[in-house]
Amino acid sequence: MTDPLPVMDGPRHTELRRVLMKAFSPRAPASVVDSIANASRALVTEAVERGRCDVARDIAAQLPLRAICDLLDVPPADRQQLLTRTSKALGAESAEELAADSWVSRGEILFYFAELAARRRREPGDDIVSLLTQCRVGGQNLTDEEVVLNCYSLILGGDETTRLALVGAVAALLENPEQWRTYQAGGIATETAVEEVLRWTTPTLHAGRTATVGIDLHGRTVRAGDVVTLWNAAANRDGSAFDEPDRFLLSRSPNPHLTLAFGPHFCLGAFLARAEIGAVLCDLRDLVGEMRPTAPPRRVYSNFLSGIDSLAIALTPVR
Ligand code: HEM
Repeated sequence: MTDPLPVMDGPRHTELRRVLMKAFSPRAPASVVDSIANASRALVTEAVERGRCDVARDIAAQLPLRAICDLLDVPPADRQQLLTRTSKALGAESAEELAADSWVSRGEILFYFAELAARRRREPGDDIVSLLTQCRVGGQNLTDEEVVLNCYSLILGGDETTRLALVGAVAALLENPEQWRTYQAGGIATETAVEEVLRWTTPTLHAGRTATVGIDLHGRTVRAGDVVTLWNAAANRDGSAFDEPDRFLLSRSPNPHLTLAFGPHFCLGAFLARAEIGAVLCDLRDLVGEMRPTAPPRRVYSNFLSGIDSLAIALTPVR
């Protein structure tokens, strides 16, 4: 059995998930959350001082990878090359670039974690790679392959998704200046705003499932054993679940979006993603006066991820 957590099922999935939850529960990574808050403040301050930035490159690209690398204790010197590879692994800037680059990048990420896992087996520390090398699931240690694939899925699962949510948040604020002004004036709680950013951006468009029982759904029949695609993006704009689903409303509550999934595979990094988006929203509110786009945004080329990978803006400090 060499599947990583997102594609496992049953008791083995529950057991491994329980192990990893220790590292991902809201209580566990307090130092990681502090590090996110400090990094976000420094990045937004720097952008305001410069008066312009590419939100994707200068703010969003720096935070999520840093948080996961802190949890995995990836040495600082290796982080930039991992960022380049993760960006190419799931998406690209154009169709021509996608196939070859993404296969090479995925291979390189796997090799990188194979070496890191071997080092942590020899010299364990207080990090998730060490946790994976030492934990017991089904009465046995994980194999090297399982450790590596789980590191791979953590880095891919937590990096670009959150980056796209962060860039999408700024793009949505630019497109909805009245929402930006209300949030700036302190009229909306950040936790509430974070949920609308998650719904609005829906960075992972879909997920696959195999139906375990047959069901009739809106006039269509799904048979047991059928492979189905769940379109989170469509669910998040469902008019029977959301009032005015096509409006970006930061005060929306309740907000039963499916951006972080639902059920046994609910996003393990939800707490981290929310902390990162919340930190950037707070810093924009506290430090930025005006923001305006200086070039058209560029969308990521992918049939799995959705969002913007370049958003150039000019910003002024808060008065
Ligand atoms: C806005 C950011 C994020 C989005 C949109 C997102 C989305 C999702 C979704 C939709 C799933 C379920 C996949 C499925 O059902 O097949 C999932 C699972 C998962 N996510 Fe996230 N995620 C985000 C951030 C993170 C972060 C920061 C991490 C970790 C550092 C992470 C790690 C995981 C893992 C390990 C799973 C598998 C859980 C399981 O199968 O039990 N995610 N995520």
